[in-house]
Order: sequence, then C-alpha cells, then structure tokens
Amino acid sequence: MATTTRERLISLLSDSGDYKSGQKLSEKLGCSRTAVWKHIEELRKEGYVVEAVQKKGYRITTRPNNLLPGEIKHQLDTEKLGQEIHYEESVSSTQEIAHQHALNDAPEGTIIIADEQISGRGRLGRSWHSPKGSGVWMSVILRPNIPPQKAPQLTLLAAVSVVQGIEQVTGVDAVIKWPNDILIDGKKAVGILTELQAEADRVNSVIIGIGINVNTAAFPDEISNIATSLKIASGNEIERANLVRSILEKMEKLYNLYLEHGFSPIKLLWEGSAASLGKRVRVRTITGELFGKAQGITEEGVLLVEDDLGTLHRVYSADIELT
Ligand code: BTN
Repeated sequence: MATTTRERLISLLSDSGDYKSGQKLSEKLGCSRTAVWKHIEELRKEGYVVEAVQKKGYRITTRPNNLLPGEIKHQLDTEKLGQEIHYEESVSSTQEIAHQHALNDAPEGTIIIADEQISGRGRLGRSWHSPKGSGVWMSVILRPNIPPQKAPQLTLLAAVSVVQGIEQVTGVDAVIKWPNDILIDGKKAVGILTELQAEADRVNSVIIGIGINVNTAAFPDEISNIATSLKIASGNEIERANLVRSILEKMEKLYNLYLEHGFSPIKLLWEGSAASLGKRVRVRTITGELFGKAQGITEEGVLLVEDDLGTLHRVYSADIELT
C-alpha cells in the first residue's frame, strides 16, 4: 500500500528533530500549505504534540501511544513485513480480517493490527482478552513455500522474534513455554495463534496471530493470577508502535534465515529461550494427560516428552504446565 501524505508528514516532522518550514513541507509532500496545516491539525487531534515556531517551522515533540500505520512504519527497517498495514480501531478478530486479505492475494508481510478486539481468538477454541488501547493485537500474513506439516515451525519462529523484540524494547527477560506462550516472571504476557490456508501438500498462507499484553494495568479475575503485561513486568509504559516495529524487524531477519537455511538455526534460538526443556511437565491433550520430562523439540517443532517409564511421546498440540 502506498505511503499516505499523513505518514510522510509524520516522518518529515520526526526526522532528526529539526524544524521543517511549511513551504518545505508543501514542496516535499506535493500539496498546498493550507493542506499541510490541515494535516497538522488532524495530527494534533490524534494526540501528537506539534510545535510551531515562527520563521523555523514545525516539529513533532510528542507522539501518541497508538498503532497507526504511520507510527509503525516510521523508521521501520524491513523489506516485506509491515510494508502493508491494515489498522482498525476495533475488530472482531484480526485473524478473521487477515484470512480475508490472504484470500484476496494480500502480499506476503501484510499485517492487520487493531487497538481492540471484541472476539479475540486464543488457541484450542479459547477467547483472548484484547482490551482497547493497551495491547498489541496483530496478525501477520506469510506465504512460505512449505508443506502444511511444517507450518508449526513458523509459530516457534514467531515466538523467538517476539522474545527478541520484547527484550530489545523493554529490557525484560522473557521465556517461551512450548509451543507459543511467552512468559515473564512465570506469567503469560503473549499468546501466538497460527492458522493456515493450505491445500493437501502446499501452504497458501500462514496467518500468525500475536497478542501481547503491553500496558495492561490489571486483568479480569479469572486470569489475573496467570497473566502479566510488559508494563507490570518492567514498571514502564511501553510505546506500542516501537515494540511492533522491533518485532517485525526481528521476524523478517529470522524468516529470511529460515527460508535460506531451514529450521535448524531457528530451533537453536528457540531452545535458547525455552522455559520447558529439561523440566518436568504436565501435558494436557484432547485425549488425556501425561507427566514426564520435556526432552526437546524435533526438526518439525514437535515436543518430545519422556514419561516416568522411559517412553518417548511426540506431542503435537497440548497445554503444558511446568510442575
Ligand atoms: C493463545 O491462546 O495463547 C493465542 C492467543 C492469540 C491472540 C492473538 S491477538 C491477535 C490475533 N487475533 C486473534 O483473534 N487472536 C490472535
């Protein structure tokens, strides 16, 4: 999607913190000075603080903590991921919208992001608490040329990139609980849901839904003892667009590595951040329960658990509890 005048204006006014004159802005943007002024008024309504100094011009001194495409794209260093962004203030679920875009040939790397989800979807048919203004609720469309059974590898790849992004932006240590929960201080801060559009032997698109509790101050009673947010963990309000940008950059690097060298380098990184490996776990699947030691993951991203009799089980889909 082409960069809008608004996005270019935000970029010009933020670059290097220098003032830009109305004349210069109108030349660069190819519109009248009145149009520039109207855009600046709109930005102010959205929460940007735009300083105006006579004979010098304008500059942005404070940016709102929003997820508008212009904010995310500002200094985004990717070639594919996040180059096309569909932002919604409120949606049922970004996964639902992403499926429609994927069917309509949206390019690889397109993201759908919302300030609020009314019916956020979690794994195993659960719902995902997605309140307004405090989280990152986004879906990323990838189109790798892989068979469907390899798609879970991308969930693990996404988890590694989110951990890296969180660490870069907040300095907080996060760990991964197989397959895709990201925990901080033993509580869940992020969930990842991967869905596919595929034929029997070929993936058309992989839709990776990422839900991050960013600035959530408190959770509903039913999840308050198992959920946390980056703000609770770090003690600071986190700029959401900054976090999204960092995750997209990390994810693109890992995705390129994956396309070039396969899953092995990703597996190593995943294992480096995994909380469950070598630990005793309780595994709950739809067919029953299993206790044992999490030994590792296979090249496909399947969890290997050894029970107390020494039998090795391959776990494809389950809830894991560290015991
Ligand atoms: C989990 O159960 O742990 C996975 C939660 C995934 C939530 C994200 S939020 C963005 C995307 N849209 C959804 O409806 N779900 C995913």
